[in-house]
Amino acid sequence: MAKTKVIAVANLKGGGGKSTTVYNPVNGLALDGKRVLLVDVEPPRLKM
Ligand SMILES: Nc1ncnc2c1ncn2[C@@H]1O[C@H](COP(=O)(O)OP(=O)(O)OP(=O)(O)O)[C@@H](O)[C@H]1O
Ligand SMILES: [Mg+2]
Repeated sequence: MAKTKVIAVANLKGGGGKSTTVYNPVNGLALDGKRVLLVDVEPPRLKM
């Protein structure tokens, strides 16, 4: 069975570079033939 690795990049600050930090290494892994799933999520906006 293939070994699955989970890598999380998290920071509560918005616009801190989380997505940008992840896109290039994920793209490189895919180009190398690795099977990758990128999930880019945001917390729900709070309505005050
Ligand atoms: N190392 C860097 N140097 C300069 N600009 C950067 C760098 N990393 C990210 N940025 C820029 O900062 C902005 C925010 O980056 P990004 O969208 O990756 O942040 P984020 O943490 O994913 O934001 P959000 O919380 O909205 O999802 C973008 O315009 C991006 O191009
Ligand atoms: Mg983002």
